Amino acid sequence: MINRFFWGIVAQVDAPSFADIVAAQTTIAPHLPATPAWSAPALDAAVGCNVMLKHEHVQPTGAFKVRGGVVLLAGLDAAQRARGLVACSTGNHGQSVAYAAATFDAPCRIVLPGPANPTKVRALRALGTDVQEHGDTLEDASSHARAIAASEGMRFVHPADDPALIAGVATLYVELLAAAPELDYLLVPVGGGSGAAAACLVTEALAPRCRVIGVQSAASPAAHDSWLGGELLKRPNRTSVEGLATGAGFATTQRIMRGRLHDFVLVTDAEVRAAQLLLLTHAHTVAEGAGAAGLAGLLALRERLAGHRVGVVVTGGNASPAELLNVLDQRRAAA
Ligand SMILES: Cc1ncc(COP(=O)(O)O)c(C=O)c1O
Repeated sequence: MINRFFWGIVAQVDAPSFADIVAAQTTIAPHLPATPAWSAPALDAAVGCNVMLKHEHVQPTGAFKVRGGVVLLAGLDAAQRARGLVACSTGNHGQSVAYAAATFDAPCRIVLPGPANPTKVRALRALGTDVQEHGDTLEDASSHARAIAASEGMRFVHPADDPALIAGVATLYVELLAAAPELDYLLVPVGGGSGAAAACLVTEALAPRCRVIGVQSAASPAAHDSWLGGELLKRPNRTSVEGLATGAGFATTQRIMRGRLHDFVLVTDAEVRAAQLLLLTHAHTVAEGAGAAGLAGLLALRERLAGHRVGVVVTGGNASPAELLNVLDQRRAAA
């Protein structure tokens, strides 16, 4: 099936099988050790349920996406790697591709919408990546990255709709469910939906009674609205929460989430900042906005989730200094 959308003509790719996800675990094992998963008693007391935090912000790139990049690059042959890779990103997908490209010795170019988070730009440059800022939104950056791919013969790496990326990020849910097999709910931040789609596939195979809930910003609700409406929709993309800043539903991740995702909540950017502060003060965890969105979703659903065992993935920790000051300002304002 072919889907025509403003991201271009997108071939709808297959979802990875559970066997692909198990194979991805073997692929990443020599590159990325399992990340910790544990509870913070002060956080549990503050939110009224047992929260199992999965700490993906401790990845070498500071975000869960790197799992996907490593699996994707590991699956390319020498000629494909030599052509190089180009991606558009608000930062963490870019770091994932760049980290894997450095690991497998492939040229890499990343296009970011401006103004880009300086923490992410610095990390990309440290990986030896060619970094460009283009346009104001991920959609602007995508058009530019696709043009580079077409003119220079590089491979365009979509931010979510790629079975290797989904299988790679799925490994985090295999790890989480091995550490906490009895979870009732899993709260997953959503931008393009690779993480939520992966969570759906893994829970379906390993923990069918665990309900996956997606969380997106109300200021960029494309994935939420696409899931609710059952069709790929464009929406304004105005959130300041980088990882959630997507203006379109994507074909493959939406198809996986449809019928598998239990629910999908929208939170405000202010609620995301409040969750960042709570992680800082009650769980000694520095999260970027998207990394705290799962907890923001939990807080929005607090009454429904009270007393349950809830998995929350801290998907990333690449907060800029300005973002961290903003988070701490809430504390000052409340004092
Ligand atoms: C830290 C973080 N969390 C969550 C997301 C959302 O992931 P996805 O686009 O797979 O839905 C991203 C996307 O870049 C991210 O960087």
